[in-house]
Amino acid sequence: MREKLEAIRRAAENAAKEAIDEKQIEELRVKYLGKKGELTALLKQMGSLTPEERPKMGQLVNEAKGQVEKLVSERKVKLKEKAVELKLKAETVDITMPEKPVNCGGLHPLSIVTNDLIDIFQSMGFDVLDGPEVETDHYNFECLNVPEDHPARDMQDTFYLADKILLRTQTSAAQIRTMETRKPPIRIICPGRVFRADEVDATHSPVFHQLEGLVVDKGVTMCDLMGVLEQFAHEIYGEDVNVRFRPSFFPFTEPSVEVDVSCTECGGKGCRICKGEGWIEILGAGMVHPNVLRSCGIDPDVYTGFAFGIGIDRITTTRYKISDIRLLFENDKRFLEQF
Ligand code: PHE
Repeated sequence: MREKLEAIRRAAENAAKEAIDEKQIEELRVKYLGKKGELTALLKQMGSLTPEERPKMGQLVNEAKGQVEKLVSERKVKLKEKAVELKLKAETVDITMPEKPVNCGGLHPLSIVTNDLIDIFQSMGFDVLDGPEVETDHYNFECLNVPEDHPARDMQDTFYLADKILLRTQTSAAQIRTMETRKPPIRIICPGRVFRADEVDATHSPVFHQLEGLVVDKGVTMCDLMGVLEQFAHEIYGEDVNVRFRPSFFPFTEPSVEVDVSCTECGGKGCRICKGEGWIEILGAGMVHPNVLRSCGIDPDVYTGFAFGIGIDRITTTRYKISDIRLLFENDKRFLEQF
């Protein structure tokens, strides 16, 4: 029996050394130490021994059992470490590999220009505001000195959503909302989308973009208007462009002007872009009409102001020499990737 015990112990020792993974070690544990294992079987045979031999043999079997248990657990730990090591080796990252190209999105040209305009006016101390695209007749026309049946309504073909509810035709609606909630001194801009029921062609789109500006304070004059807008035109087009103020008409400003810059393509000689004129119109402006101030509860005898509405699409097409406004709205990737 003693020999048998020794043989089992040695066999277990060898098997443990040869086991190459945790599964084999587990099989080995079951084979020798399990309920039906060889060492357990040996213990069961103790009955056939003499009473003197029995305790001695019992002790030996238990010792052997302890040894095998130790072997198994030690081997198990080793194999586990080895498995981790192998896994780490297999997973090493080669940091010298070239990276995969990442496709980055970019800003739409209209967004680039809008951001530039915001930067320019913010540096002059203007606040940036937002207004709703769905407006009421009250804000889009009525308070802007355009009562119902006023012929000026024909200047802007309007999309009506319901009675007196419309898509704003101009960001000027933001002037009224501002003067209702803020008291002078006021210095704000409001960039955004506007809508008019125009036929689509190379220079017209039913959706386009404006940036409204409004300044109201004591003693604001036409000189302030001209200074701010000239400065703006030079910042956006460069010091070399000429700026011209033409008398015009808007119901909510008096006097009113339209502002042109010398054509950036031909420098003023006349070309396809400026339709031979040498000038490109970029905005409408004027001194806020006393009726408009009054409709917002501001006393026109104390305060004066000026307002302007810049065509963002026009600035964008002239800056990037884009010949058709539709390109700005089609979102063709081949076009957008150029910015
Ligand atoms: N709202 C005018 C337009 O859309 C532009 C404008 C704004 C004119 C502010 C004067 C003052 O044509």
